[in-house]
Amino acid sequence: MTNRLTLSEQFFRDQADAKASGGLSTVLNRFSLAARMLASEIMRAGFIGKLGYTGTTNVQDENVRALDVISNDVIIQVFENIPMVSGIASEEMDDIHLLPGGESGKYVITVDPLDGSGNVDVAGQMGTIFGIYRRLSVAGKPTLGDFLQPARDLIAAGYVLYGPCTMLVYTAGGPVNGFTLDRSIGTFFLTHPDLKIPEGEGSYSVNEANELKWDQNTQAMVRAFRRQETQVGKRAARYAGALVGDFHRTLLKGGIYMYPGEVKKPEGKLRLLYENGPLAFVCEKAGGAATDGKQRILDITPKKLHERTPLYLGSKGDVAEAGRRLHGG
Ligand code: F6P
Ligand code: MN
Repeated sequence: MTNRLTLSEQFFRDQADAKASGGLSTVLNRFSLAARMLASEIMRAGFIGKLGYTGTTNVQDENVRALDVISNDVIIQVFENIPMVSGIASEEMDDIHLLPGGESGKYVITVDPLDGSGNVDVAGQMGTIFGIYRRLSVAGKPTLGDFLQPARDLIAAGYVLYGPCTMLVYTAGGPVNGFTLDRSIGTFFLTHPDLKIPEGEGSYSVNEANELKWDQNTQAMVRAFRRQETQVGKRAARYAGALVGDFHRTLLKGGIYMYPGEVKKPEGKLRLLYENGPLAFVCEKAGGAATDGKQRILDITPKKLHERTPLYLGSKGDVAEAGRRLHGG
């Protein structure tokens, strides 16, 4: 049998490389536990009547599904008993959630517990996105400021993809590594070491039904990708409707994922802290780029928890081309 590296072994290596005094590998291991729990929940949801809506809306004014609630609960639960994390900011919660016993914890985490939950009832891809920051305040309860850090200061970030297989992809500032869950023994094994996003190939991924909501430059830019008129080469059109799924494909095959701003909603849809920041961190560490059309996502300091920005994420050439065309070039 080949010597297969497990996720836990990689966590310890990262911790040693980061010269961290301890704790980071425990935090990462907890995300791995949450991933395994959620993979199982998602797989069983259809059998046990958990595919539907709860009848409520979240802070984002989106209809909440039973699995959204379960996913958020699982994340809170797995971090409740470890002292390293002092608080959680989640896309599903209005305010930061303080963890009992975590007052001296030196990390805070941000999470989109179930990204792409619109795919729940069609057996489509979904994901979990996470970011880990070192808290800035020295002691006591974490403050809002601990969470409002630019994504370039992430200690680690990654995502879990729930699809035909469950994958966990992350970086602790070094290489981006991808692990696949062996369900039979409940362990993630390294299957995609040192991921590098390809240049000059792949797909463009955007909800084109929003075309008439975009300004002229955005329309022309997307049209150029659709008509295969860009300088970076021909791109196929692909859209899963789940950011994690669309980003994962883009990371492996190249191209660009976009969620542009709209004339009446210039900030777009996706959230800086829970979605754009962590994925931008992963993308740049894999050699790609991520912007809001004007500046690097990693350089934006959030002013509030649920801040949104437009997102252009993928191969360097594609993101640069989109940026040029957005500015009429
Ligand atoms: O979390 C937001 C999200 O569900 C993403 O996963 C996905 O990429 C996007 O919204 C889809 O939005 P739309 O339905 O507007 O294309
Ligand atoms: Mn999401």
